[in-house]
Amino acid sequence: MASGGGENNTQVYPPSSASQNGAYVTSMQQYKEMHKQSIEDPASFWSKIIEDFGFHFETPPNRDKFLEYNFDVTKGPIDIKWMQGAKTNVCYNVLDRNVKNGLGDNIAFYWEGNDPGDHSTITYGQLLKEVCKFSNVLKSLGVKKGDRVAIYMPMIVELVVAMLACARIGAMHSIVFGGFSADSLAGRMLDAKSAVLITADGVYRGAKLVDLKKISDDAVDVCKTKGFDVSTMVVVRHLGSKSVDNGAEVNSPTPKRPCYSLSTNMVSGRDRWWHEIMEGVSDQCDTEWLDAEDPLFMLYTSGSTGTPKGVVHTQAGYLLYAATTFKYVFDYHPGDIYWCTADVGWITGHSYVVYGPMASGATSVMFEGVPTYPDEGRCWDIVDKYKVNSIYTAPTLIRTLMKYGDAPIKKYSRKSLRVLGTVGEPINPEAWLFYYHKIGDGRSPIVDTFWQTETGGHTMTPLPGATPLKPGSCTFPFFGIEPAVVNDKGEELEGVCEGYLVFKKPWPGVMRTVYGNHPRYEGTYFKQFPGYYKTGDGCRRDEDGYYWITGRMDDMFNVSGHLLSTAEIESALIEHPKVAEAAAVAYPHKTKGECCYSFVTLIEGAEFNETLISELRSHVRTKIGPFAAAEVVHNAPGLPKTRSGKIMRRVLRKIAKNDHDLGDVSTMADSSVVDVLFANRPDVNV
Ligand code: WT7
Repeated sequence: MASGGGENNTQVYPPSSASQNGAYVTSMQQYKEMHKQSIEDPASFWSKIIEDFGFHFETPPNRDKFLEYNFDVTKGPIDIKWMQGAKTNVCYNVLDRNVKNGLGDNIAFYWEGNDPGDHSTITYGQLLKEVCKFSNVLKSLGVKKGDRVAIYMPMIVELVVAMLACARIGAMHSIVFGGFSADSLAGRMLDAKSAVLITADGVYRGAKLVDLKKISDDAVDVCKTKGFDVSTMVVVRHLGSKSVDNGAEVNSPTPKRPCYSLSTNMVSGRDRWWHEIMEGVSDQCDTEWLDAEDPLFMLYTSGSTGTPKGVVHTQAGYLLYAATTFKYVFDYHPGDIYWCTADVGWITGHSYVVYGPMASGATSVMFEGVPTYPDEGRCWDIVDKYKVNSIYTAPTLIRTLMKYGDAPIKKYSRKSLRVLGTVGEPINPEAWLFYYHKIGDGRSPIVDTFWQTETGGHTMTPLPGATPLKPGSCTFPFFGIEPAVVNDKGEELEGVCEGYLVFKKPWPGVMRTVYGNHPRYEGTYFKQFPGYYKTGDGCRRDEDGYYWITGRMDDMFNVSGHLLSTAEIESALIEHPKVAEAAAVAYPHKTKGECCYSFVTLIEGAEFNETLISELRSHVRTKIGPFAAAEVVHNAPGLPKTRSGKIMRRVLRKIAKNDHDLGDVSTMADSSVVDVLFANRPDVNV
């Protein structure tokens, strides 16, 4: 849902003196000076950041070779290197360093389970021991530096342990969100050639039981049919099951909720229980000193061709960027309690549940459940329980909560809240105002953070103590980001304008490549506008220089803050034997922001009916994952195409919205199909 550019929102919300008091950045003047230095002299700016945090480098960065890059495809391969030659380790910096600095007894995570009452805590010191043990386990399984380890887990402490253990030994973690299907998991393991998979028996999401082990088994089978063997599956016993050992307690950092309906099947020789394999393993493990530009992890994101891209982030640059954005954007100070509601399976969880907060030695809440279970007040219950100072969530959740009105919010005090964050899609001013007034009681600034899996951390965002806010605007660039707005010829626009949002220089957190496919990296992000990184989003700059994201400019859409490509949905739909052709477009959705509106052309003789619609929906869910619902299915005996046979999605978007003003259709091969489509238009209520 585009924010609409905010023409009707003239009110500006300056930082209150309470927000400014003690903040790291307290004025726009100070922000501008810091931003200027970050662009003009990145080596000095980021060296000072390294010093402020006290990050450990086994071999310090060379000031003269701090940043080397080519950002222009016409001049050669895209190549970005921050601090190359310096040696460090991200796990060491987020764990050992904190413990050495006396934070060993500080709580790293308050783990809050799906069911109220299920909770535990883990300190930095305890976490370090678990991570060392699991690092040793990984080594014993033959995992080496550079190997890709697949992780398909719920929001439990072992997930953090697994990630940091990979980081410690220099293996890349490749986390697949636990809501993806077996096919999606298999596709990602095949692409990354991940021979080791870490998962759990299952998880409750609200009242729903998800059998993660069964999905993992299916995924491994799919890999096998494609000639790839997953050698080891490590399984956390999170629920326990009767078939295993009557759900007896096991020693683990996250409490269990026995579930006797699971019948976890362990394949001998391949599958290992986490608690068994950890038994008796040493809690000491040396860190592997890695080059600043060695890969840290990969994370798949949707690509407009349909196959997901393995976004690769590297060691030192990612660490600096995640740490710095976390510190300044949430204005985190020691002792604060912070909660990011995102799943670690998405980049938001990587950067703002794990790496960013832990680099500051922060205390976070890690929540396993869903925000409306057991009721709509759960989030505020958690905020009051842990006295959360800053919360980071998505517009889709805010819009969901808006439906239930004020009562579930007013039941709780929420008085600890100081900073409210949002991410994932443009926040419409109505949701912004609800967040600000109802949830924050008009006391706390909203940081609307625009960024992407590819950017590693926030790129456009307010700073709570400095930036006057406009509801719906992500305001100004973060340190290191030099934005520009270009037209479709790639010409930079000045002043008030609207066009493509691009970035002119590399920042430390920018992705370095697409795993195994550098040409795709260059083609997707650098080719259309040589010399710039293309975000793929449109934006408007207003008379005060504020940036307003207007949404994706490509064949992608954003469901509840998660990108999907129309191609992915289309290829799932056409797999159905009765479907001859399919086209999907984004459609506005009241709570999810956007949803998928699909047109299907059936084969001769096939009947379009409710059974078929539900088969198609369930197929999309199975292929991609439950969050990828085909909300609307429209019977399309013919699709509008150009003479060269290209589907005219622009026209389909209009038909979906029942908008008869189709614009220029002179290139359309057969315009009679359009009348049929308007006549067939289903009732849409999403
Ligand atoms: C796309 C990236 C970054 C973590 C979550 C999504 C959209 C993200 C905002 C925002 C407007 C936003 C963009 C972007 N987006 N944040 N504050 N305002 N749009 O990561 O799956 O890589 O999606 O999400 O369209 O390109 P992702």
